[in-house]
Amino acid sequence: MMIPPFLTPAVLVMLVVGGSAPSRGAERGPLALRQAFADAFLMGVALSTSQVNGTNDRAGVLAAQQFSAITPENDMKWEALNPLPGQYDFKAADAHVGFAARNNMNVIGHALIWHSQTPAWVFQGREGKPATRDELLNRMQAHIHAVVGRYKGKVIGWDVVNEALSDSGPDILRDSPWRRIIGDDFLDHAFRFAREADPQAELYYNDYGLEDERKRANGVKLLRGMLDRGVQLTAVGTQSHFQLDYPSLDAVEKTILDFSGLGIGVMVTELDVDVLPSRGTAGVADISRREMADKSLDPYTSGLPDGIQEKLRQRYTDLFGVYLRHRAAITRVTIWGLDDGQSWLNDFPIPGRTNHALLFDRALNPKPAFFAVLQKGQASRTRPPRR
Ligand code: XIL
Repeated sequence: MMIPPFLTPAVLVMLVVGGSAPSRGAERGPLALRQAFADAFLMGVALSTSQVNGTNDRAGVLAAQQFSAITPENDMKWEALNPLPGQYDFKAADAHVGFAARNNMNVIGHALIWHSQTPAWVFQGREGKPATRDELLNRMQAHIHAVVGRYKGKVIGWDVVNEALSDSGPDILRDSPWRRIIGDDFLDHAFRFAREADPQAELYYNDYGLEDERKRANGVKLLRGMLDRGVQLTAVGTQSHFQLDYPSLDAVEKTILDFSGLGIGVMVTELDVDVLPSRGTAGVADISRREMADKSLDPYTSGLPDGIQEKLRQRYTDLFGVYLRHRAAITRVTIWGLDDGQSWLNDFPIPGRTNHALLFDRALNPKPAFFAVLQKGQASRTRPPRR
């Protein structure tokens, strides 16, 4: 599919600003994702600091025009908010909240308790020893109360615990300082503290790879246990860092069904589609300099060939087909970044590559996948056109 050349972000802005009223009529359809999916679920995007604090205005305008929810990509993580004991820095996080308020968007808080992007001091105790269970529980409570309390009524929901499930082995939970020091009930405590700090906020458990049968079964077991113990859990977040041909649509669908079967909401929280060759089983540290420079691992540095662009369009089309079929269970779909230049997949799992995982390219131009998703949303609208 060709991108109409006149649809630069600036032109899109004009079109949407000029024609955003629902009265425009469903035959023609609204011109932005947030309107096309308004009857189905929130359409979200992960944003970086420069996209919300006025530094990168073009990106901010495009994001506000297209999306109804934002997730700060890094600015509400522990290391960003509370880098040193007793020192909080809310500047960047506040910029997200202000941006969302000005543009009538929802804010999702990401992420309170995680093993990654959390400073080492959090887990340290006295005299070079690890923190005790009580020390860590106190830090967890203080942090959650400070952060959730500050944004009470402004952040609609929080990823309370991120990535606690293991990827292999006999244990359900991964080995992490949270589990090692507090014990398996660290999740229950985190949710309790979040609920104390904001009685209205939605509270989510968020993880990746839930399409894998073993991890999904463990996830269902974990969350069922929490619900049985009375933990207040609103929804599960399936991160959905996907590839062109993995996981299968069938696995995506089963994941939605299995978790919604628990009676909680399901959210797609970090959707992107990696188009680059995978590195097999080698760890990043094992990749030699020669391999890093190897074109075969980074083949699309000067643009995405039409054939792959088409595969990407088809992949997004198929995924949104599944999401729309299960719109009764799905409350939000968030894409992990606005444009390809911003995507973390340029640096993960191999640093310094050129990925093309999102709906807008590096120049903020909409890709064929964008138009396909928009069209899916328009076609799904249930509201009859107004006269
Ligand atoms: C990523 C960000 O996109 C990067 O900018 C950062 O360097 C590392 O973290 N799962 C998560 C997200 O829950 O927080 C991660 O975000 C991607 C994987």
